[in-house]
Amino acid sequence: MKTPVLKREIGPDDAVLWQANELFLLDQRLLPHIEYFIHCEHANAVAQAITDMVVRGAPAIGVTAAYGVVLAARDAWQQAKGGWKAAMEDDLAGLAAARPTAVNLGWAIRRMKKVAQALDDNQDPVPALLAEARGIHDEDIAANHALGDLGASLIEGKTSIITHCNAGALATGGYGTALGVIRSAWKAGKLEHVYADETRPWLQGSRLTAWELERDGIPVSLLADGAAAARLAAGGVDWIIVGSDRIAANGDVANKIGTYSLALVARAHGVKVMVAAPTSTIDMACPTGADIPIESRDPEELLSCGGKRVASAGAGAWNPVFDVTPAELVDAIVTERGIIHSPDAEKLAAHMA
Ligand code: MRU
Repeated sequence: MKTPVLKREIGPDDAVLWQANELFLLDQRLLPHIEYFIHCEHANAVAQAITDMVVRGAPAIGVTAAYGVVLAARDAWQQAKGGWKAAMEDDLAGLAAARPTAVNLGWAIRRMKKVAQALDDNQDPVPALLAEARGIHDEDIAANHALGDLGASLIEGKTSIITHCNAGALATGGYGTALGVIRSAWKAGKLEHVYADETRPWLQGSRLTAWELERDGIPVSLLADGAAAARLAAGGVDWIIVGSDRIAANGDVANKIGTYSLALVARAHGVKVMVAAPTSTIDMACPTGADIPIESRDPEELLSCGGKRVASAGAGAWNPVFDVTPAELVDAIVTERGIIHSPDAEKLAAHMA
């Protein structure tokens, strides 16, 4: 089912859409069975959509928040005219607090604030802020194409890969980070098969990654989250390729819960780990992985599946939704600027200089 809210045809990569001065978000909670766009009229609705996983994935959260700032500024200008800067502060704080781990959220809001601060109090802020939000969106797509091709250049010969969560077009402004590498590798004829971890509890792998790869005609098989070690032992997989929500200054990588165990089994099997992420995901203000705020979500997400309780009635759950992979388990971080082999603090600093 597709909603009739949009006037032009929806592109396969369009999960965050600014159209006719309105923001539409593809509701990723409903995929792959229903393609439904939510219309967000105000910044508080955008913040709620981020918290509720309508839109998810670090770069997509950043792009969405940037458009959220535009909506906040539009409301503030209509209501307070010359006092618009102060009038939108609460909305900006709400957006920034929507989810804690993806650094792209704070990064995008800081970029938008910088533009806002430079504007005149008596000037309609919407055109300049919209141009910045569009810039953030377009730059993310361009970065993903660049890092996708760079990451693919690391893959030698024809091999299979394992990916975790969804780091595709849905999780970004478009094209994807880990899936950007996979798409570029597929085009270059270097890819045999993609194994996607199902990624409990939100099933980003089975619902979203499989859906995206299928649409590209890239062969994909799902793995139960615990199956990666056995799959690596069976051979034929040369790379684990994942995205990231925040990379610390020493190269430690926060990503979807389960990435750390995947990296450990990869090292045990001599399989390489590639982290594909734009530089907007690198947080030089965060010294190590221990400093990355890790989001814990409602235990109910783990105790249930598809909205139906599956756990024993008295069971509780520990539900951190990200983990940290130490830099020493990462073979390469690939950004739009280049490849950081065996990342450490010195190499990250040079890369970001
Ligand atoms: O909880 P989610 O679905 O927002 O988690 C997303 C991830 O962990 C992705 O791997 C990460 O944001 C990189 S997306 C390009």
